[in-house]
Amino acid sequence: MAERLTIAIDGPAGSGKSTVARRVAAMLGFLYLDSGAMYRAVALKALQHRIPLDNDDRLVNLTAETHIQLKASTAEQEAAGFKNRVFLDGREVTEEIRTGEVAQAASRLATIAGVRRVLVAEQQRAGEGGGVVMEGRDIGTVVFPNAELKIFLDATPETRAQRRWKEHQEKGESMTLLEVLQEVRQRDKRDRERKVSPLVRAKDAVLVDNTAMGIEETARLIVFLANERVPAGTEKQN
Ligand code: CDP
Ligand code: CDP
Repeated sequence: MAERLTIAIDGPAGSGKSTVARRVAAMLGFLYLDSGAMYRAVALKALQHRIPLDNDDRLVNLTAETHIQLKASTAEQEAAGFKNRVFLDGREVTEEIRTGEVAQAASRLATIAGVRRVLVAEQQRAGEGGGVVMEGRDIGTVVFPNAELKIFLDATPETRAQRRWKEHQEKGESMTLLEVLQEVRQRDKRDRERKVSPLVRAKDAVLVDNTAMGIEETARLIVFLANERVPAGTEKQN
């Protein structure tokens, strides 16, 4: 059984991490944690405080004095596509952090080593003890390098942009598919090329390309792999 495993899911924007990770967590009865929501929450605060996104020192200080909490979504939020409730200094920002502007600011903020140090420590605390599915960009490489199961989830840029565009359409936002593709490509490039904790596949991560796979099929594959793993430190008892 997959009891108390740590499952790390990394991959580029729109690859299906949140949706699939949330489903895997539900199937296994695990806690689901969206690390990207933390970067987005700090980014929202920086935009609200009008802190220039090239002022690294102020952004590191801002991150250190920010309190972020991730909680399970309500049934309505879940149905509307919000997989984690996000609280920024006690105020709910679950929906507010899901704009293109916040995503771009988050990926800029995520290049700063001092910002990452603070958020990685928070993520390690939140996932302590296992029984968790955490998704992001550096979960298998930096946050939980000893995770028993690591997945690198991918899909073609066109498919990922198409998925994101559909979400924007459903929310009544007027971005064109080309604009979304450009946003996704720009963020991917920054995430893959940054010096600190770039988006790379951990050597021991299983590459899952779900371009032609549905959410349920992808989640089942991951649960299947999880059921083959044994929690660290318990090998001898099994
Ligand atoms: O978290 P990430 O940016 O990696 O992606 P997501 O927000 O989980 O997924 C983006 C969109 O793609 C969501 O609307 C999912 O329902 C959809 N999706 C899909 O249609 N097929 C998949 N195999 C995975 C995700
Ligand atoms: O949902 P989507 O995949 O579009 O993005 P996200 O997971 O909400 O993350 C927003 C941004 O935060 C990413 O573009 C990354 O720059 C950054 N991030 C990161 O650097 N490390 C993580 N573990 C999670 C997110």
